[in-house]
Amino acid sequence: MKDMIAKVITSVVVATVCTVAPFTAIAASPSPPLLDFTIDNSTAALQRGAELVQGKCMLCHDLKYVKYRHLADIGFTEEQLTLLRGESALEEAVLSMMDGGARQEMLGMIPPDLTLITRARRGGERYIYSFLLGFEETAEGTASNRYFPGTRMPDPLGISYVTDEGERQAIYQQAADIVAFLSWAADPHATERKTIGYYVIAYLVLLTVLLYFLKRRVWRRLDE
Ligand code: HEC
Repeated sequence: MKDMIAKVITSVVVATVCTVAPFTAIAASPSPPLLDFTIDNSTAALQRGAELVQGKCMLCHDLKYVKYRHLADIGFTEEQLTLLRGESALEEAVLSMMDGGARQEMLGMIPPDLTLITRARRGGERYIYSFLLGFEETAEGTASNRYFPGTRMPDPLGISYVTDEGERQAIYQQAADIVAFLSWAADPHATERKTIGYYVIAYLVLLTVLLYFLKRRVWRRLDE
């Protein structure tokens, strides 16, 4: 009997260790907590974000579901759009300045499209913000990323080597504007949809009140 109990206890212990150990191994190397920030959806922030993305990301990335024409929705005037798009037509998508082959050769891969990136990564906007600010200088003088160790993307905003506090604050602001713009790009009609939602609710409330009075009228006649 004792033997039996010992066997059962041993197998329970072995089973527990086998199930729990792999998870503890994962938990032992946690990625750092994501940085927090507030998304500013103002036209000014979205425009700053669009210009930053154009200037600092489009060498390598595409925004293949955003057309230059769509940028009018965040308040760019026709002249501003002409400056932004250069040779490209209004109907063209916002694409990288390098073709696929050149990027493959330079980076060893074609970087992911950024249109839906805030939806495609766990942590969403906060992850993208943290990733952009997560570069730090290693002892060998290269940049590594706390949130994506071994990434092939070089530090695009310079956070790994800028030391002046004022300039660092400016980079935080740039990252916030970039992420606000990318969040808009992933769902350009979010604000419009919310506004329509309020109208729909107001309409339903009004309809309910009208139907209530109609019902009272109909039933009053039946009571008589
Ligand atoms: C010199 C080229 C280059 C520039 C400039 C660049 N990127 Fe990247 N980016 C890459 C590459 C390459 C990858 C793929 C990284 C990997 O998988 O190792 C990448 C990946 C990403 C990812 C996905 C990370 C993930 O978790 O998979 C995001 C988000 C991103 N870039 C945003 C940006 C933004 C925003 C900018 C501009 C501020 C920018 N990148 C500028 C090359 C670039």
